[in-house]
Amino acid sequence: MLVILKREAGEIYEQAAQLIASAIKKKPELTLGLATGSTMVGVYDHLVRLYQAGSVDFSQVVTFNLDEYLGLPASHPHSFHYFMHEHFFRRVNVQPRNIHMPDGSGRGNYDQSCASYEQAIRAAGGIDIQLLGIGRNGHIGFNEPTSSLASRTRLKVLSRETLDDNSKFFAPGEESPRCAITMGIGTILEARKILLLATGAAKAAAIAKSIEGPVASAVSASALQLHPDVTFLLDEPAASQLAQRDYYHRVLEMTALLTPDRLA
Ligand code: F6R
Repeated sequence: MLVILKREAGEIYEQAAQLIASAIKKKPELTLGLATGSTMVGVYDHLVRLYQAGSVDFSQVVTFNLDEYLGLPASHPHSFHYFMHEHFFRRVNVQPRNIHMPDGSGRGNYDQSCASYEQAIRAAGGIDIQLLGIGRNGHIGFNEPTSSLASRTRLKVLSRETLDDNSKFFAPGEESPRCAITMGIGTILEARKILLLATGAAKAAAIAKSIEGPVASAVSASALQLHPDVTFLLDEPAASQLAQRDYYHRVLEMTALLTPDRLA
């Protein structure tokens, strides 16, 4: 596990975008697992800038999003379909046929549509790089605390903490979704490389538990300790409760000297 510590959130977004752009240069048909949420906005802005500068080409990239609310149409301004379209897809040249998002429309057989999503990921050859944010309760995707560490794409009931965090995005009186379709922790762990970004003090406790605490279903992101190629990108407030910060700084210095490819 590599822990990249930066002073400012903006540096985190830029470095994540650069890591993704370099991976696409090496493999133009990269399969990219994408996330939504406020942390991702800066990453997509940087990727759009790199695209506009001619530094990255998404024409062969295949994408799979982590999750989608249940019951919101794709056109709803708070759906993750809408978020992805606004912040990323309409601004770059990802081909619409290469975009995959869980179906949150609430119609049909959830088990079947989730199994089809897993099948589509397998058919694409698996996910090369998975981008993740983290909830204050340690969730990745919408794998709320006590999710099985072996879980697959499925319907998930959102926790009280997540509902509270999300309610600020909805108008007063407007009901926010109570459930979502999310890739499972087992699905996420099959990605070949994982980048998890966290900024701000509200994420500090979840980050400390995920990196330095025991692997436990109570903190979904702690399952990432079982993955062989995870990079955490953290700003100072998000890293503030880590006990081993000095060690991570020393590892970073040595990584820059010995294996600089891991940083850019
Ligand atoms: C979103 C997702 C969530 C968010 C997490 C952090 O697709 O899967 O796990 O990454 O809730 O959200 P922000 O960045 O808004 O704090």
